[in-house]
Amino acid sequence: MNSKTSSHPIENERGIVVDLGTGDGRFVYQSARQNPQKFFLGIDASANLLEKISEKIHRKPAKGGVKNALFIQAAVEALPEELDGVADEVHIHFPWGSLLRGVATGNETILKNIHRICAPDAVLEVIIGVDQDRDATELQRLGINDLSEEFIATALKIKYEECGFEILEIGSFAAGDWPDICTSWAQRLRTNENRTIVYFLAKRISR
Ligand SMILES: C[S@@+](CC[C@H](N)C(=O)[O-])C[C@H]1O[C@@H](n2cnc3c(N)ncnc32)[C@H](O)[C@@H]1O
Repeated sequence: MNSKTSSHPIENERGIVVDLGTGDGRFVYQSARQNPQKFFLGIDASANLLEKISEKIHRKPAKGGVKNALFIQAAVEALPEELDGVADEVHIHFPWGSLLRGVATGNETILKNIHRICAPDAVLEVIIGVDQDRDATELQRLGINDLSEEFIATALKIKYEECGFEILEIGSFAAGDWPDICTSWAQRLRTNENRTIVYFLAKRISR
């Protein structure tokens, strides 16, 4: 995720793409339509959000159906064993709650669960949108004290390595300068003039 114009570093590879905390599934749905050679799996703890999109993908193609996507209700804390080793890419976009706490603090249980569903050499992308003032109480509640690039490059990097991920790229985007990210929360949050993005890309390594 380098700029508004460059292609995504993990685009155009064959494989299985998992969107963890998929919400209404927009990223999965749009990506599946644009990349018929890949299979997209949207996972979210909330069944409510998944109902509408799950119905849509099973329609006939002319009515918006797609064959290369599936949605599963599951929390990152309890990912089904059937997913072990399947993911060539894992995306986590604008997480909240325990998913945010897991990836932003380097929680061992959460990271090992994500690691478990990754194929060898899988790539993990985490994108977090932060408004330091508006989110202060929630960040404190989740025990997230620092989301700076420096923190990610040092303390968080070590925790990820201990759980089998090497953080390869870290970056941020100022409010008003976000790249195109095809998710509903990206659309919703990008109008906030104080919300910045911090992101990182990691690669699964063996422990
Ligand atoms: C702000 S929404 C982002 C949705 C989507 N990724 C987007 O960008 O539009 C955060 C999502 O994370 C999901 N989530 C939170 N904690 C989770 C957990 N422990 N396991 C799985 N999903 C979780 C929520 O249900 C919610 O749909």
